[in-house]
Amino acid sequence: MSNLRPRRSVLYIPGSNTRAQAKGRTLPVDAVVFDLEDSVASEVKKAAREQVIETIREGGYGNREVVMRVNAARTEFYEDDMTAAVAARPDAVLLSKVESVAEIFAAERHLRGRPETHGIALWAMVETARGLQDIANIAASVRTPEGHRLAGLVLGTNDILRETRVKLVDENRGPVAAWLSFAVLAARAEGLFILDGVYNDFSNTTGFEAECEEARALGMDGKTIIHPNQVEPANRIFGPSEAELEDARAVIEAFSRPENAARGVLSLNGRMIERMHIEVAQRALDMAAQIDALK
Ligand code: COA
Ligand code: MG
Repeated sequence: MSNLRPRRSVLYIPGSNTRAQAKGRTLPVDAVVFDLEDSVASEVKKAAREQVIETIREGGYGNREVVMRVNAARTEFYEDDMTAAVAARPDAVLLSKVESVAEIFAAERHLRGRPETHGIALWAMVETARGLQDIANIAASVRTPEGHRLAGLVLGTNDILRETRVKLVDENRGPVAAWLSFAVLAARAEGLFILDGVYNDFSNTTGFEAECEEARALGMDGKTIIHPNQVEPANRIFGPSEAELEDARAVIEAFSRPENAARGVLSLNGRMIERMHIEVAQRALDMAAQIDALK
């Protein structure tokens, strides 16, 4: 699916929580991620795997992207998780704790050569010190001749904090901002989407909104979320605002006037616009149309 697809709100749902899985069918999220990793205790991994296969087969998620998060390649659960993913056929498989290009190709080999897995995309979580250090290579590996189906990157900020021992004061993400920005660069260089990590304090709407605003300012496409409370703010903040759409229409209208046909640069309401701004404007309008089409 195209990377213009909205991924403003991407909701994790524990693989073992059937009530939350049912609720996912009614929430206006852009994607649901059925988790087999950290929200599922080791003793119930097997049951969760079977549950997620059943839930995905049952369907009912409409236009939402359906994603399955598998345990990291280095774990005892990985092979069975990938086998379950092949059986369940979600829209995408989200790989955990990706640290190397080899892990992407290994997942690719699981999916390749079977007609029924043709349409399954790969998403990669980057959430370890090694993964962050190698993120540019991981993203750039989409260009190797054999290629693979990596569509986007997902940051795992809880794991990043745990591993690096960074301690945030008053939720100020200054100490990790450089890593987040580097991840955005890696994604953009290769045309991948990129999603921010979760905000744990799901009862604090103000704090959540501030983190969404920050992620959007950093260039991210959306937020991974953990609770229904977070859906509306994420959709609102990552979607194009009315003011942005109005401005986008004005930019396109200005360049389409016959007297401006040969001009590369114009003045619009006291600011300079160039032809490249048509692309920015068109993207906002296309995104709004995609969002409308999801409703
Ligand atoms: N997806 C879908 N529905 C969810 C949900 C989620 N992630 N989290 C909560 N809900 C539902 C609950 O089932 C409940 O529904 P109900 O009214 O039909 O009973 C409603 O939203 C209100 O939930 P609430 O009581 O406020 O929260 P909770 O105590 O049930 O759950 C968490 C809190 C944190 C355990 C839960 O939100 C959760 O498991 N989130 C996802 C965690 C996860 O996947 N982590 C891994 C990635 S970081
Ligand atoms: Mg994690």
